[in-house]
Amino acid sequence: MNKVTVSAPGKLMLLGEHAVVYNHPCLVTAVDQRMRATVETLDSLEFQLEAEDVGVTGYKKPLSNLGKGDIPKGAQSVEIAVRNISEKYPLRTGLRVTTKSEFSSQFGFGSSSASTVCTIKAVSEILGLNLSQKDIFDLSYKTVLDIQGKGSGFDVAAAVFGGTLYFVTGEKVIKPMSVDSLPLIVGYSGVKADTVTLINKVKESFVHKQKRLNEIYNSIEVLVNNARDALIKKDWKRFGKLMNKNQDLLVKLGVSIDKLDNMIKASLSEGAYGAKLSGAGGGDCMIAIVPKDNEQEVKDGISQAGGKVVNIKTNAEGVRIEK
Ligand code: PMV
Repeated sequence: MNKVTVSAPGKLMLLGEHAVVYNHPCLVTAVDQRMRATVETLDSLEFQLEAEDVGVTGYKKPLSNLGKGDIPKGAQSVEIAVRNISEKYPLRTGLRVTTKSEFSSQFGFGSSSASTVCTIKAVSEILGLNLSQKDIFDLSYKTVLDIQGKGSGFDVAAAVFGGTLYFVTGEKVIKPMSVDSLPLIVGYSGVKADTVTLINKVKESFVHKQKRLNEIYNSIEVLVNNARDALIKKDWKRFGKLMNKNQDLLVKLGVSIDKLDNMIKASLSEGAYGAKLSGAGGGDCMIAIVPKDNEQEVKDGISQAGGKVVNIKTNAEGVRIEK
């Protein structure tokens, strides 16, 4: 094969962010807005990248320089992915990668993890490797850690496996939940958040309160486990209540912001069962679990609070070959 296109879904954290970095479980769902990557072979031993969505065009370098020198931020997830897979399975041709996203990289839907997963999957197809989902997860997660140093890998798991997952980091648990879709509404705050900055912020502000931090993380774990049961029973009212409690704990961690708080408050006063921020906090998106009859009111409430409603479906398929 000398050309392949693959796609992988974005993700939304349902419950358990931050605690998941420290070996507690989380629930994550894959969303139906996808990242696409086309990989084709080149005669020259070059790596080329077109990733217009993140401002990278006409980027090229010799394969021997992969991962070296100054790499623009928008090129890192693909270039380091190609380097990592080629260290294990040497390339005999050059590669041209073109990425295209159905969603804005601003939303915090995990565009860099999804492009890493797409790249690993596409290159493995080009090389005729029969990599398992687990192999793709491992190489992709290594890439994320090489780039950002920290992270649980929940976003990589969502991009690879899709669906809704109960996830514990360190290859401990990646368990698909059998649920078709969640009655979820998503609001984008318009504020860009940086995951690693927020992980560090929590760490620093609790540096002398480790016991308190552990208590919060243990409480989040209990909520996640209860939410998993509620999810299995499709008990959305209970699931919503657990989300509210999770939000209270995220406020205690210091990662919510006024804009998100206002969007969450508006959703609840318009009848949502529960609402919380999703992801690292500091911006990005909030999510609300909403009874069918209140969907429009909640959407209007989010807009009036200054948020932008993002229409998505949950439980999307994991990484797949498009053609
Ligand atoms: O910022 P996001 O949407 O990538 O979510 C980060 C969630 C954290 O738990 C804070 C980090 C992680 O890798 O699990």
